[in-house]
Amino acid sequence: MKVLILEDAGAAYDRAAGLIADEITANHRAVLGLATGGTMLPIYERLVIRHRAGLSLSGITSFNLDEYVGLAPEHPQSYRSYMRRALFDLTDIDPALTHLPRGDAANPMVEAERYEDRIRRAGGIDLQLLGIGRNGHIGFNEPTSSLGSRTRVKTLTRQTREANSRFFGPDETVPAFAITMGVGTILDARQCLLVATGDDKARAVAAMIEGPVSAVCPASALQMHPKAVAVLDRPAASALQLGDYYRHVHPDGSEREIR
Ligand code: PGA
Repeated sequence: MKVLILEDAGAAYDRAAGLIADEITANHRAVLGLATGGTMLPIYERLVIRHRAGLSLSGITSFNLDEYVGLAPEHPQSYRSYMRRALFDLTDIDPALTHLPRGDAANPMVEAERYEDRIRRAGGIDLQLLGIGRNGHIGFNEPTSSLGSRTRVKTLTRQTREANSRFFGPDETVPAFAITMGVGTILDARQCLLVATGDDKARAVAAMIEGPVSAVCPASALQMHPKAVAVLDRPAASALQLGDYYRHVHPDGSEREIR
């Protein structure tokens, strides 16, 4: 895994947005895997700024990692609504080419299979954007998710529901289930870009990068991926044993120059 440690959160978001913009510039018809959560908001803000400066997303196809079961796309707390507010409505991305699982599908299991099939028919994902939960989840693949899992319905942990309650009103309950790409689905992406900031992610980040590959930390499956990049700020990198080495290889998160 390529580990890029940036001075602060702002620099980490800049770096991540730069890597996504590079992918779009290199391939106007790229298939992007998108994520939600607090970490992604400043990254999407930066992409919107780049769009206003000329970056076009008009040929991009997108597949989000997950959606809450029970929420229609129009529901304000659905991830479709999040994506519209954060990115879709603010850029020239073609709404017909943006995909999220339907949380209000009559049969969520069938919807999960249909979603997996749509990703396959789109030719797979070129670049998958990922956050990480404090418990090491990626997408909504909670600890002990099969590392070979495909898109399916998962029960959210109490910790995840509490962490995400900040996006819901006081009278609203966080859904108990989600449709999420599986760990195996994520590993099929041609590149993975995971972003983590803040010391509350430090333990999960250390388990992901330096711990054993284990379903207890689903993000550790990225150790098996041939092209995975972790973009971190210093607090998120603070529990890493080999931090000095990562900084030596990629000073300030820069690319290595072999001379
Ligand atoms: P966060 O969520 O960016 O809101 O911390 C990350 C995640 O749970 O994957």
